[in-house]
Amino acid sequence: MSLLPDLVIQNCGQLLTVAGASRRPKILRDMNDPGIILDGAVAIKEENIVDVGTTRQLEKKYNRKGVKIIDALGKVVLPGFVDCHTHAVFGGDRAGEFVQRIQGESYLEILKKGGGILSTVKNTCKLTLENLVEVSKKHLDTMLLHGTTTAEIKSGYGLNKKDELKILKAVQHLQRTHHMDIVPTFLGAHTIPSQYQSYPDSYVDLVCKMLPKVKAYATFCDVFCDEGGFDAKQSEKILSTAKMLGFRVKIHVNEFKDIGGVSLAIRLCVTTADHLDNIKYRDILKLKKSGIICVLLPGVPFFLMKDNYAPGRKMLEAGLPVALATDFNPGTCPCENIQMIITLACLNLGMTPAQAISAVTINAAHAIGMSDRIGSIEIGKQADMIILDIEDYNQIPYYFGINHVNSVIKKGRLVVENKQLVYSH
Ligand code: NIG
Ligand code: FE
Repeated sequence: MSLLPDLVIQNCGQLLTVAGASRRPKILRDMNDPGIILDGAVAIKEENIVDVGTTRQLEKKYNRKGVKIIDALGKVVLPGFVDCHTHAVFGGDRAGEFVQRIQGESYLEILKKGGGILSTVKNTCKLTLENLVEVSKKHLDTMLLHGTTTAEIKSGYGLNKKDELKILKAVQHLQRTHHMDIVPTFLGAHTIPSQYQSYPDSYVDLVCKMLPKVKAYATFCDVFCDEGGFDAKQSEKILSTAKMLGFRVKIHVNEFKDIGGVSLAIRLCVTTADHLDNIKYRDILKLKKSGIICVLLPGVPFFLMKDNYAPGRKMLEAGLPVALATDFNPGTCPCENIQMIITLACLNLGMTPAQAISAVTINAAHAIGMSDRIGSIEIGKQADMIILDIEDYNQIPYYFGINHVNSVIKKGRLVVENKQLVYSH
């Protein structure tokens, strides 16, 4: 077998490696260091990165017949984005509710009337597995075109065993057929279904009974511990049962209200606590000792027209590991473009572009337990990289609302070229 790489990407004006944090997430000053190599190059063999350096260094070693070259033309190159919190598999949309909200109805009022998540549950239950795969694939294609090479996807629009399993099977199908890496999460406890409104604890028991059945399909178990969802006691029951069965656990907390979810998260040693929009400084300090990754989702308060953004800068200054994600879902953030989330994190969470980039790459990889394979450009890691049409990475959030991604390399293969999917399954 030849020792030469198959592919070299060279002339990367700024190569952002985000290196050095595969064992532990980045915190504090390291968040601000995207590990830049000016005029960088990356050598790839099969699925993996085999060398990283300057263009001059790699040209000397690998300028040989048979080695394919991609010229990045002086542009910004970085690890593929990792969207570590999405609800990307669902039926229908809620554009009608969007208009209702603009006219003054709140998200929770709509949910209480049987709309919101419950309307998406109806639309998701109506679809066959095949249709669900088909509509979800379109969302994943859009994510990939915007540079997301790995995503976590939660179930949670079935709320009964049959339909939760259908969603997880759709996720599994996409895992096998789509270019993106996908990490599946069971979120049977997304909200209380209509028929259980008067007996929420019976639904909690039902979710616990679903756990062994969905185990084969999901790595993580998550609970929506908030107003409109599950209280701390109910959440604890579900997540501690899940842990006993071998799931890793996550929790949605403090999106609408602080109902004690942070203390529960710490007690349960969750991998991530997500949202954290309404968090007291006391709880920031408590989280500090926990090692929990804080997944911030600024697209949600933005889309819900609220000003309760998570105190991102304070969390970073306190030394918490912070990741960012879209929360892509039909109700609170119908946006597949994580570049837009970087802009919102800079403008509303007080993060610098460099911190936001660390948060959507290596720290997001930690949030889904994949930091050994993805999230940075380092020898031995999977070759997941994106080439952007800009010369300075600060332009990612600056020119906002557009897609900067020109090309995507996933597991060493060019899957997006000149803003088009090269081919899809
Ligand atoms: O993370 N309520 C929580 N879950 C999602 C929203 C889902 C929806 O509205 O469909 C969230 O914000
Ligand atoms: Fe969510």
